[in-house]
Amino acid sequence: MPTEAAHAILDVDLAAIVANWQALRLRHPSGPVAGVVKADAYGLGAPRVAAALYAAGCRHFFVAWLNEALAIRAVVPDAMVAVLGGLIPGTEDACIAHGLTPVLGSLEEIDRWHGQDAILHGDTGMSRLGLDATELSVLARDHARLKRLTIRYVMSHLVAAEGPDDPMNQLQQERFAAARAMLPPAPCSLANSSGIFLGPAFASDLARAGVALYGVNPSPGQPNPMRGVVGLSVRVLAVREIQAGASVGYNGTWTAVRPSRIATAALGYADGFHRSLSGRGSACFDGAPVPLVGRVSMDLTTFDVTAHPAVQPGSWLEILGTHLSRDEVAAAGGTNWYEVLTSLGRRFHRVYRTA
Ligand SMILES: Cc1ncc(COP(=O)(O)O)c(C=O)c1O
Repeated sequence: MPTEAAHAILDVDLAAIVANWQALRLRHPSGPVAGVVKADAYGLGAPRVAAALYAAGCRHFFVAWLNEALAIRAVVPDAMVAVLGGLIPGTEDACIAHGLTPVLGSLEEIDRWHGQDAILHGDTGMSRLGLDATELSVLARDHARLKRLTIRYVMSHLVAAEGPDDPMNQLQQERFAAARAMLPPAPCSLANSSGIFLGPAFASDLARAGVALYGVNPSPGQPNPMRGVVGLSVRVLAVREIQAGASVGYNGTWTAVRPSRIATAALGYADGFHRSLSGRGSACFDGAPVPLVGRVSMDLTTFDVTAHPAVQPGSWLEILGTHLSRDEVAAAGGTNWYEVLTSLGRRFHRVYRTA
């Protein structure tokens, strides 16, 4: 479909993703920076993102599930593709056939894995996946149990790396050192995007960067060192002139207090534009904010464009991009950037920029 015919355009700047990866590499000189491309590269399209990173030299990728690994394997033929979700029973042969590296997080998974390469995951505070203290001490007494394996990395995941003063960071760093000491010597992997900015104590042989690649600030409260990656613009379908007292949208949650112009835009909660944004948040027209009014519905959202006579059917409103602070959009929806990105719908026309 030609871009001009689109009802909404999601603009993904692959060159900016690569530039962000290069910038993170400079911040993590102790070892390479892997691309975390789970959840379809945080909603932006894993095969496209992985191929761009691979072309730039990235040779380590993390996904959550086997099907995500298979979706990128062809475009990153000789790279490490690690499956963070662990070794779900029945996936072992596919992992071997496609040269995938499972992230093993329990003794049961270790014993069941009949492939060779593996990442061992130690739980240092997340209490979700990963070898717990009891399992680590069993392994400490019995390294023979790991003899069949090539341990590519021992890894753990930080709970609160975006808060440099959070005491949990230090605690996890100490627990990680203790966990590594219980296992056979192997390279290690600790920092996520924000962890890369925590300083040398959190440097490791492999960082795992997700959200910062996609332009989100890894150090909230500081200037964002990452380049913007995502733009989302939607088309105005209709503009209504309404009288004072007229209500807008489902359940009439917004009523005009003066004669108003209401623009109906091609975006709804089916596109990941959360219903919790109803009556909050805004879009941008020509660099100026236009407030969202009434309920977000499945395919449509309404904006008060009374102050913008130039908005007409066919105009474009910016939902994400240069004029709107990304944090603003997430905060208005009562969520964070991870959720905003991974929710972005599949109905948008996508444009991938490579330069
Ligand atoms: C185990 C693990 N490592 C790394 C990442 C990447 O984190 P971030 O997107 O904060 O860089 C994630 C994401 O949730 C993760 O679960």
